[in-house]
Amino acid sequence: MNTIEKYNKYVNTSMVAAVMPVVFDRAEGALVFDENGQKYIDCFAGIAVTNAGHSNPEVIETAKTQLDKYVHCCSYVYYNKPMADLAEKLAQITPGRLGKTFFANSGAEANEGALRMAKTYTKKHEFIALQASFHGRTYATLSITGNFARKKRAGPYMPGCSFAPPPYCYRCTFNLKPETCRMRCAQYLEDIIKFDTYGDVAAFIAEPVMGEGGIIVPPEPYFKKVKEILDHYSILLFVDEVQSGFARTGKMFGIEHYSVEPDIMTMAKGIANGLPLSGFIARDEIANTFQPGEHLTTFGGNPVSCAASLATINFLEQERVAEQVMEKEKLVKERLEYMKEKYSIIGDVRGKGLMIGVELVKDNAKTPAVDEAKAVRKSCLEKGLLIGVGGVWANVLRIQPPLVITDDQLDETLTIIEKSLGEL
Ligand SMILES: Cc1ncc(COP(=O)(O)O)c(C=O)c1O
Repeated sequence: MNTIEKYNKYVNTSMVAAVMPVVFDRAEGALVFDENGQKYIDCFAGIAVTNAGHSNPEVIETAKTQLDKYVHCCSYVYYNKPMADLAEKLAQITPGRLGKTFFANSGAEANEGALRMAKTYTKKHEFIALQASFHGRTYATLSITGNFARKKRAGPYMPGCSFAPPPYCYRCTFNLKPETCRMRCAQYLEDIIKFDTYGDVAAFIAEPVMGEGGIIVPPEPYFKKVKEILDHYSILLFVDEVQSGFARTGKMFGIEHYSVEPDIMTMAKGIANGLPLSGFIARDEIANTFQPGEHLTTFGGNPVSCAASLATINFLEQERVAEQVMEKEKLVKERLEYMKEKYSIIGDVRGKGLMIGVELVKDNAKTPAVDEAKAVRKSCLEKGLLIGVGGVWANVLRIQPPLVITDDQLDETLTIIEKSLGEL
């Protein structure tokens, strides 16, 4: 049996409509090579993970050195240097007073632990999240995920979760225009607090740029307005940077675009450039809320992953990757805006840094062009380009490459996307 046949027989993939027919053999930078030597430009990066580039030599070398020393110690039972060094580094590079990290293994696990910490610290029990959000696939994280497609057939969910309208200007809940809306969606948070909760809200959870929901970028004043309301009701601001972190949006963390100080931040995906690791960080007084025996995970803070994470962050800093990402954003958006004029199927082009979405619609009524989005992804694949498709309506092309992608590779990417749109 070949790899695909073994997958079909022995791997439970029932949760995805189809695994893309690419069997990875090796990958470097923004390129992936399959078993037959076919080359692809990777514009999905394992869902926004390999920010420092596939097989980044410095990350690999550092991980190998740690592998040769020891692989595991249980980082909460014994001390390990890579985890201590990484925690120190995260305290330096995260905004505001965020200072103490708990390390786990996946984005969902980080969010799950951070929810617990928010409850324990505030002694309150409810949460507010955003419609169209995604926070993971465990019980609590699905409970705060605002998307029926992800939640169906697994309820009922955790009580005490309310949802605020998303800052999704292209499909504004209130049918307003960003120039004149006066941040109605942010203001509405107060109505949610007053009318949908019983006044016992521990935290408001939001992605600084909403990834799975369709690369939704909150307008500039959004988080400031939200924070004013949260402060008034003594509710924590919990930002889920699982997808938007580690230079993905052109800043080390997405929330830095909005000049507000979060109380809790979660991270995963790009943190160790592909090695499994996640974490949640908070101010000391919040982090110190846990008491002995309350929170732990066997593999969390694995020394190899932590060493790889430090090397990833050093690489992102030394190479000034975030700054380059801002430049690349301009290049990509310029060409996509041009395509938008040419192809009426493009309803909206949006994103920050190299977290870019192209929303496809069938008509002026913005009917989601779901089959067309799938067809574009298939056509791109045939032409040697890997992209994602997502969004609450499954009609958003997602361009989220390794951040080291070259301008030439981006150029080729956009040429392939344009050709594929032309074939519709
Ligand atoms: C914003 C956000 N939070 C949480 C998660 C869940 O992360 P994981 O799949 O590592 O559990 C994701 C995954 O896509 C995500 O995008």
